[in-house]
Amino acid sequence: MNNKTIDILDVLHLRGPNIWTYRPALEAWVDINDLEDFPSNTIPGFYERLTAFLPTLIEHHCGVGERGGFLMRLREGTWPGHIMEHVMIELQNLAGMQSGFGKARETCKRGVYKVVVRARHEEVSRAALVAARDLVMAAIEDKPFDVQGTVDHLRDILESVALGPSTAAIVEAAAERKIPSIRLSSGNLVQLGYGARQRRIWTAETDETSAIAETISRDKELTKTLLQSCGVPVPEGSIVDTANAAWEAAQDIGLPVVVKPLDGNHGRGVSINLNTEAEVRAAFELAEHESSDVIVERFVRGDEHRLLIVGGKLVAAARGEEAWITGDGKSTVMQLIESQLNSDPRRGSSEAHPLNLILTDPDDDPRPVLLQLERQGFTTESVPKDGERVLVQRNGNVSCDVTELVHPSVAKAAALAAEVVGLDIAGVDLVIEDIARPLSEQSGAIVEVNAGPGLNMHLKPADGEARPVGKAIVDHLFKEDENGRIPIVGVTGSNDTTLTARLVAWLLHLQGSYVGLACRDGLFFRQRQVHNRPSDNWERKRQVLLNRMVEAAVFENGAKTILSEGLAYDWCDVGIVTDIAEDDILPSFYVNDADQMSRVIRTQVDVVLPSGTAVLNADDARVADLAPLCDGNVLFFGTSAQSPVLAAYRAEGGNVVYLDGDEVVLVLGEEQTRIVLPEATLELKPVALLAAIAAAWALGISSDLIRAGLDTFMQPADHLAA
Ligand SMILES: Nc1ncnc2c1ncn2[C@@H]1O[C@H](COP(=O)(O)OP(=O)(O)O)[C@@H](O)[C@H]1O
Ligand SMILES: [Mg+2]
Repeated sequence: MNNKTIDILDVLHLRGPNIWTYRPALEAWVDINDLEDFPSNTIPGFYERLTAFLPTLIEHHCGVGERGGFLMRLREGTWPGHIMEHVMIELQNLAGMQSGFGKARETCKRGVYKVVVRARHEEVSRAALVAARDLVMAAIEDKPFDVQGTVDHLRDILESVALGPSTAAIVEAAAERKIPSIRLSSGNLVQLGYGARQRRIWTAETDETSAIAETISRDKELTKTLLQSCGVPVPEGSIVDTANAAWEAAQDIGLPVVVKPLDGNHGRGVSINLNTEAEVRAAFELAEHESSDVIVERFVRGDEHRLLIVGGKLVAAARGEEAWITGDGKSTVMQLIESQLNSDPRRGSSEAHPLNLILTDPDDDPRPVLLQLERQGFTTESVPKDGERVLVQRNGNVSCDVTELVHPSVAKAAALAAEVVGLDIAGVDLVIEDIARPLSEQSGAIVEVNAGPGLNMHLKPADGEARPVGKAIVDHLFKEDENGRIPIVGVTGSNDTTLTARLVAWLLHLQGSYVGLACRDGLFFRQRQVHNRPSDNWERKRQVLLNRMVEAAVFENGAKTILSEGLAYDWCDVGIVTDIAEDDILPSFYVNDADQMSRVIRTQVDVVLPSGTAVLNADDARVADLAPLCDGNVLFFGTSAQSPVLAAYRAEGGNVVYLDGDEVVLVLGEEQTRIVLPEATLELKPVALLAAIAAAWALGISSDLIRAGLDTFMQPADHLAA
């Protein structure tokens, strides 16, 4: 009896650069059992069923390099591991999680494959993997499969785990500038950059957004008092605590007025253009429901606008539009709202929609709309006459880009408002008739200043051009020549990597940097051991990069960590490879010989920055062979000037470090420096010694300091040469 099933044996979440790709990926070990004898072309109807489930597979180029490439493979005959890879990619794409990268590779065990797919979010990819298996099996067994239901499910997971759109825009803009990011919470708190050079953002708030400023901005009355004292126009008003007081205040100010909560947001409980006692009283009830304190203020004529100020400059402006319906003599108000407003594809209840649904959004209070209708003599069930226009919503629809139109005096007033409140990033709500004319010529005023403003209206305006607001925020946090990176040194190889890492950390420490070190001896901050268990794993390395004190980081990367978790950093300044031993294998990962191990170790060389250096052992042929993979410089080290690789590289003008008796010779182009090794270091393993010296040299540490460092390095006893 054939066992035609697919078993998922194991799943690895590769969280950083790995043997397959620079990006996080999911690696599944899949056993296709006897399906090994049944490639796709031998299963009748399989091709038709699979492409009926997922017609968009036509877009997959696969290795063929053109549209339809994968389908060609499918016709010619390919195996379930490879098919699962493509199905998984497609399911992820359909769910809105873009994922181009995938690979399927046989292992040495018959029927067992490694299937790897880019995983922006682990949870989504894990679910997509299982779904891909089930879908492929359904196509094999000629059974139904609910593709739409599966995609919807994946999309739900994605929505629950993905960053919000504002935060995502900032993180993407950072990535454009090669600034790394680390998500710090399941919410929108993100670290941009590493260690001491990091900045934090939380939606559109930054570590520069003052808590006091944020609190001020939440109190609309206090905000107005501060703005007014600096000459920024605001509507006069007062705080009231009863409906009677509200009506009295309204008479003092002069009608029409606005009644709104002192500390509301999203327009909740705001009623504007109120002209009668009854309207003011009803509005008071609405506002009081949202907040204990209620403001009555002068009604400012004009359109509502949102101006985004970042670092004292205007970067985007949007105008709100009133929402109107036009009667046809037959339909009810509710039907007209549905057909003329809510049917607009820009409206929806998710964050990705620039406009909200009217009356049907579960998160929105329907009462302001009902009240607005009532004031015109309508309910949702009324039937307006043919051609009759009814105002449904006066505000809350800010999404029409007007950045180019803003008059400089208006931009200046908005920037001043942000400055007065003390916010580095602010959303300024301005009511004005014509944003293109000077403020002094009209009765415009700033009604509110918001901390952590939503960026969606600028990223996806319903009308007009999208604005690069994520970039503006990143540029505000990082000067042009900053990338949020600290020097990172990664060490890998079969032997001596711990000692190398410790010595490099010591030399960086002497240079004056606050060093974080994660290696097999433990986790160290500024030479203090904070963990004594092996810390060459992903989690510990991440701790180093999270630490705001850390000015330089040194990581030991064992082959097993690279295989099972990937690297904890995206790029490094120095990547050291000590050696690749003949007997260094990891059969439990299907790595059965040194050549395969070489493909694991190369990961360290792949991530060297173009401005960085790979420090490679010239005496080990497999290590030396990795040199061409490096985007940056290569520095060879060896135990003798005669080492062929080293000598040849030196002859070409390359940088080398080698041992000459009890001296280490550093050759940098024309320049040659010698360091006489202190007595104590002669006991150290030469490979580790040379690798560390070469790395320090590549990091720009002076030869004098290296010499002093060698003199004072207290090597742990187990690192001495045998
Ligand atoms: N005094 C006012 N005059 C005219 N319109 C106003 C006034 N106050 C508020 N609005 C309108 O109501 C909207 C919401 O008011 P706002 O004070 O910004 O409250 P929220 O915190 O809920 O956003 C504003 O964007 C503006 O369109
Ligand atoms: Mg507002």
